[in-house]
Amino acid sequence: MAKARATIFFCKECGHESAKWMGQCPGCRAWNTFVEAPSQKAGISGVRAGSAGRGGSTAAGRFLAAGELRPRLLSEIETSGEVRISTGMEELDRVLGGGLVGGSLVLVGGDPGIGKSTLLLQVCRNLSGDGHRILYISGEESLSQIRLRADRLGEFSGDLFFLCETSLDLISDVIVREKPEAVVIDSIQTMYREDAGSAPGSVGQVRESTQTLLRLAKENNITIFIVGHVTKEGTMAGPRMLEHMVDTVLYFEGERNVPYRILRGVKNRFGSTNEIGVFEMRGNGLSEVANPSEYMLSGKPEGASGSVTACSMEGTRPVLLEIQALVCRTNFGMPRRTAAGTDYNRVNLLLAVLEKRAGMHFSDCDVYVNIAGGIRVNEPSLDLGIVMALASSHRDVPVDDQMMVFGEVGLSGEVRAVNMAEKRVQEAAKLGFTTCILPDVCLSRIPAPPQGIRLIGVKNVREAMDLIGR
Ligand code: TYD
Ligand code: MG
Repeated sequence: MAKARATIFFCKECGHESAKWMGQCPGCRAWNTFVEAPSQKAGISGVRAGSAGRGGSTAAGRFLAAGELRPRLLSEIETSGEVRISTGMEELDRVLGGGLVGGSLVLVGGDPGIGKSTLLLQVCRNLSGDGHRILYISGEESLSQIRLRADRLGEFSGDLFFLCETSLDLISDVIVREKPEAVVIDSIQTMYREDAGSAPGSVGQVRESTQTLLRLAKENNITIFIVGHVTKEGTMAGPRMLEHMVDTVLYFEGERNVPYRILRGVKNRFGSTNEIGVFEMRGNGLSEVANPSEYMLSGKPEGASGSVTACSMEGTRPVLLEIQALVCRTNFGMPRRTAAGTDYNRVNLLLAVLEKRAGMHFSDCDVYVNIAGGIRVNEPSLDLGIVMALASSHRDVPVDDQMMVFGEVGLSGEVRAVNMAEKRVQEAAKLGFTTCILPDVCLSRIPAPPQGIRLIGVKNVREAMDLIGR
């Protein structure tokens, strides 16, 4: 059969395939994300044509193949006792579900410059220090650049090898020959396969390259980390379209000018995706933040109006954080409203609730809301904290520094239940808070509150307002 190279279109966001170009992707509903790529099926259809030839027709061929294959019963399947290898970083191990699994493909995505290479170099350092054989392949930096970064991170030991290469055909040979236990590919957007035709970083290349790595990982039982840059615009294919091919997807998030970084699991075939790892970027690499609450609250002003401690859940982990609100008189024109680190529309909604249900007037006031520490939280449990911070600043009366607040606020001004109330209270007690204001309905879920903390249940925002300045 002639190897006609058909073209096919892919969505560069979600990988949706189509025979023709489309303005909007039916998969992820994004606009203008379709790009042209040579069909990956050219090779596969060749194989299919062969088997169809044997069977006479495609349908018969499929039947014949099905006759050769034997489906198994669940009880016939043997499980290999899963061995986990620690990466030497507790925060990362937790996100991975308890350490690395042999033969797995892990995608680490994130904005350029966020610290992906640094994180993985530190992982390699820990693994080689523990006696594992590791190969770090960079298509972005020269060996001397890697050396410069490594020098910042400290001592290296053991079998950690470096290679600067972008041809996956050559890389495959090296991996098969050197037999490392773990490999880092930094980054997938620089890798290419000769036979794929298009330029490195294009949708077709990225898919083909990942396919090659997937096969290498499974056949040789090697854990492979793939670095993928997230690109908002441009021709490079984003890591999102690889998500379905790999076993684990981790995103490294944070603002570039704030040292706080969150590693979030969004897909994990070997564990839960509810976990996050917290790191801080320092002069000598990433350091783990074992107690994010303490970190987020460091620097909180004492006795300042408009500052309230609230609690968000990052996976199954409670993180205390500081909500700041500043309400001041508008000097001229339209009142300004800004929300940094949280949802702007939610803040407007809460302002409207305060106007209508608690009789506070903001129409001639500028309102600024900020979550300190440069993190983003869009959790309804922050509502009550935002409302109290707004009211505290509006009245210019500080709230008790030893008080933590959580609860969702509804349009009638009612304070509604939130999940994991007990965990949040425990975290507040652990950090020495003496009072916790929470939805009244949550009180019954905490039969035995921790020592030293007083729980005050509120039913609506009016009741919460009465607690300010007491
Ligand atoms: P990098 O790991 O190169 O990011 P990525 O691979 O995601 O593109 O991280 C780059 C940034 O991290 C760079 O701005 C410098 C900073 N950095 C530190 O602050 N401390 C360090 O020890 C290292 C190695 C980097
Ligand atoms: Mg990098």
